[in-house]
Amino acid sequence: MPQLSSQHLLGIKDLSHSDIDLIMLTTAEFMQVLQRPIKKVPSLRDKTIANLFFENSTRTRLSFELAEKRLSADVLNFSASGSSLSKGETLLDTVNNILAMKVDMIVLRHSSPGAGIFLAKHLTRFKHSAHARIVNAGDGTHEHPTQALLDAFSLQQALGNLVGKRIALVGDILHSRVALSNILLLKKMGATVQVCAPPSLLPRHIQNLGVEVSHSLDSTMEQADALNMLRIQEERLKVQHFPGNYEYHRVFGLNLDRWEKAKNKPLILHPGPVNRGVEIDGKLADGPDSIILDQVQHGVAVRMAVLYLLGQTANKEH
Ligand code: NCD
Repeated sequence: MPQLSSQHLLGIKDLSHSDIDLIMLTTAEFMQVLQRPIKKVPSLRDKTIANLFFENSTRTRLSFELAEKRLSADVLNFSASGSSLSKGETLLDTVNNILAMKVDMIVLRHSSPGAGIFLAKHLTRFKHSAHARIVNAGDGTHEHPTQALLDAFSLQQALGNLVGKRIALVGDILHSRVALSNILLLKKMGATVQVCAPPSLLPRHIQNLGVEVSHSLDSTMEQADALNMLRIQEERLKVQHFPGNYEYHRVFGLNLDRWEKAKNKPLILHPGPVNRGVEIDGKLADGPDSIILDQVQHGVAVRMAVLYLLGQTANKEH
């Protein structure tokens, strides 16, 4: 049976082309399961998964939890507030204690870039923890691999093969983990990737990732097959990067005026949460060209695929 080449899903960086194909194929199979009256399979009934969310989340947390339940895993949920972290315990100690309770997989959301990479490296030293599989559910401004996988799956469903397709990521590229994971994945899948943002919201040397750079949403829209509208990551802004939300919406937002004037109408994606009236007008988010809620639906199947595939490589002996 085909398996993933890596033990954890820490970032898109670690996925080979055949890993990506395998995840996309497995997602399509789980999409079929999710159409059935009984949306459940026994694949992970011998596994226990802990969802450790040290940062706020609605969609991603619920989507992982639902995916785990659809796979018949036992599920533990942990959020930072009300935990021993406030008593001074380290992340490594917290996770080691959870794994000592015979937990098999950790789904981790954390504000520090590289938190999952750090755990994957250090857990191997501990006999109760060496077996664990780690899934990165967003590590600060670094990566959010399952979001990129569900975005790519949604794009494939709508546009077919992504080779040669032109996908634009619009908005706060500087602070967005969704942007980095999307760039890495879409490039591996053969798409042309453009980033469109004010210069203050673009990392320096972004061209080195092999993307095209634009500062005009109108010209980006002329050629794009799809726009992925990213939220301004207000919680990560340390300085003011633009004059205000009204100004941002006028210049870089997908507003009705811009949409009506555009000759080419690309597909609209958004990872959520949507800030209506900032990066996108609410009417366009709800309109016929938007696949925002399809993305949410595909997210459960993508996470089922990732957990199922990592579960196949997990040590049954521990
Ligand atoms: C994204 C995230 O948390 O990075 N949201 C999500 O996972 N659905 C994007 C965002 O918060 O803007």
